[in-house]
Amino acid sequence: MSEKWSAIRGLRSGTSGAIRRSAPYIALAVLLLVVVSLLLGVRRGPAVPQPVAFNHRKHTEDLGLNCEFCHVYVKKGAHAGLPGAETCSVCHDSPQGTSEEAARVTELLSQGDPLRFNKLFRLAPHVFYTHRRHVAIAGLECATCHGAIAETERPPRRALVQVDMDFCMDCHREQQQTLECNACHR
Ligand code: HEC
Ligand code: HEC
Ligand code: HEC
Ligand code: HEC
Ligand code: HEC
Repeated sequence: MSEKWSAIRGLRSGTSGAIRRSAPYIALAVLLLVVVSLLLGVRRGPAVPQPVAFNHRKHTEDLGLNCEFCHVYVKKGAHAGLPGAETCSVCHDSPQGTSEEAARVTELLSQGDPLRFNKLFRLAPHVFYTHRRHVAIAGLECATCHGAIAETERPPRRALVQVDMDFCMDCHREQQQTLECNACHR
């Protein structure tokens, strides 16, 4: 009886000894994981929430609306602009389709909700960028900088393409455009 107990106790102290020995490594691994995910999180930014689950594919591919219908300044301004209740009302003041989310849009509009969408792609205020120059003059495709957003069926939580300084510079170098600091930083 006592032999059995001491054997069990021996086993337990053996395991806890092993845990004690590996504890620093486990702690280090956990710390590393936290640091890495923090770095990634900071790089990618927080998830962007939206008031309704907008569906690009349905409105562009299926209904054939062009981008300018909702992003009205994309060819004439620095900012493309995001649509709101006024634009959606054109159709959703009356029920459209059969999905629950479409019904919710009509309901929200009837309550006077402004449907404020939040920006996904965003540059620091010290960077000067204009859509007019890149879309209307240079004739670049939206997908070059925004990826496959036109085919999304619900709003992406994060930008599909990381638009940072290297991204701008790579194309400018390739297409022999300005690399001068103060062309982009004004
Ligand atoms: C050369 C890269 C590039 C191209 C091409 C481009 N965009 Fe953008 N777009 C950006 C950047 C960068 C931002 C973020 C701008 C900021 O925060 O100042 C942005 C922001 C936006 C926004 C958010 C609202 C705003 O104006 O800030 C919309 C909507 C948008 N783009 C739509 C489009 C559409 C539609 C097209 C094609 C017709 C297009 N973009 C082509 C780089 C591009
Ligand atoms: C030109 C008309 C038109 C405009 C403008 C329009 N929609 Fe729609 N929308 C529709 C139609 C039609 C459907 C139903 C399509 C179907 O079910 O096949 C729909 C469906 C939807 C759905 C359901 C999507 C799904 O996955 O089932 C949502 C959400 C939606 N619209 C949001 C919006 C928002 C937000 C705006 C404004 C930014 C907007 N719509 C502007 C016509 C429009
Ligand atoms: C019926 C309206 C409508 C049409 C048409 C439309 N969009 Fe959008 N777009 C939206 C709404 C609403 C959002 C915000 C929700 C989301 O991201 O799905 C948005 C967001 C975007 C964004 C992210 C902008 C940001 O906040 O940084 C881009 C890029 C974009 N659209 C590109 C396009 C392109 C390219 C087309 C044409 C192929 C297009 N859109 C057509 C309504 C529209
Ligand atoms: C895919 C290629 C491409 C990308 C990506 C791109 N650009 Fe450009 N950019 C061009 C082209 C082409 C022109 C020249 C347009 C013209 O003919 O006026 C230009 C012109 C400019 C100009 C005007 C320069 C001047 O001489 O005044 C600025 C500023 C600029 N880009 C900023 C940016 C910024 C900021 C980004 C990143 C957010 C960016 N660009 C990303 C292709 C690109
Ligand atoms: C074609 C446009 C363009 C040119 C040219 C350019 N930058 Fe940038 N720069 C950017 C963009 C875009 C960002 C990122 C902003 C953001 O993250 O929102 C940036 C960010 C920065 C930052 C902030 C740190 C960082 O990396 O995010 C510094 C500092 C900077 N640039 C310095 C310079 C200097 C110095 C030059 C000249 C050698 C230069 N830039 C030329 C577009 C440009």
